[in-house]
Amino acid sequence: MKLFEKLKDIDKAAIKEIVETPSWDALEQVKIKYLGRKGIMQDAIKNIKSVSKKDKPKVGQLINELKNKFTSLIKEKEQSFIDSERSMFGNKDITLPGVKKEIGHNHPLIKTIDEIIDIFVRMGFKSVDAPEVETEFYNFEALNIPKDHPSRETFHTFYVENGMLLRSQTSTAQIRIMEKEKPPLQIIHAGKVYRPDAVDASHSFMFYQIEGFMVDEGIVFSDLKGVLEKFAKEYFGEEVKMRFRPHYFPFTEPSAEIDISCFICGAKGCRVCSHKGWLEVLGAGMINPKVFDAVKYDSRKYTGFAFGMGIDRICMLKYGIDNIRLFYENDVRFLKQF
Ligand code: DAH
Repeated sequence: MKLFEKLKDIDKAAIKEIVETPSWDALEQVKIKYLGRKGIMQDAIKNIKSVSKKDKPKVGQLINELKNKFTSLIKEKEQSFIDSERSMFGNKDITLPGVKKEIGHNHPLIKTIDEIIDIFVRMGFKSVDAPEVETEFYNFEALNIPKDHPSRETFHTFYVENGMLLRSQTSTAQIRIMEKEKPPLQIIHAGKVYRPDAVDASHSFMFYQIEGFMVDEGIVFSDLKGVLEKFAKEYFGEEVKMRFRPHYFPFTEPSAEIDISCFICGAKGCRVCSHKGWLEVLGAGMINPKVFDAVKYDSRKYTGFAFGMGIDRICMLKYGIDNIRLFYENDVRFLKQF
């Protein structure tokens, strides 16, 4: 009857252990200890052979009873864990797999802005902010575009309340900064601009521009060329060439439009550059003394250059995107690719 007595002790010990188990892990251990392949109950089954023939059925039955009892006690304990977790976590099933949050990334336009700004910052430019809701003074007058000026037509404008408007160019930042700060200045500014253009594959009523300018004593046109060439090579590639075409902007004199050799076809001519081998990317020039007058800078003492570029266009060129609308439709299938 030795095994029979032993089983009684096992019974007591197991019940106590199961009932007092504090955690899922500990319960798993108890389960293995008593019911596992090499567990105590399996051991008892093996030892049945040492029991006398007469007692064998009784011992065998006890072993079965205990196994069933332990199994159901463990089940009960598991249920009590589930119940207490339920009461802690409400009715949520915390054993379900978690909801995976996808990690996002910046919009391609913001990436482009960051990359371009970074290049200018490394050349010593300071990145600044400027308002999008402006007055006519900052968007036009101070930039030498008075009311009757024909070029004002090219800057079709959204007017809001009280004579305010949504700026149609980032050149406003020149005035905003020069009014507040004194030369030497090396400023870069990126932001949204607005024009009531009909939306098509290359026009949007809202788009992004980057404006840069530098003002000090003795700034000359070759400084502009040097800075822009450095930028073009850094951003588009070492082999890229630049060309300046004379142009007209009211706020610069002289003014130029700047093309880069097509980096897609290596200037051989392709669909993107309309088989010209050149891509127009920038407007620039020497800041018009009239602009300095508007911010009360002494235009005999100071000179400077300014440039502006459309980010959407640059981003489209760089990634071979053929429709500006894609930037603003928030289609994740498009945005995911960048
Ligand atoms: N503001 C001009 C535009 O929106 C771009 C531009 C051209 C900016 C020449 C400049 C500049 O600073 O010098 O078309």
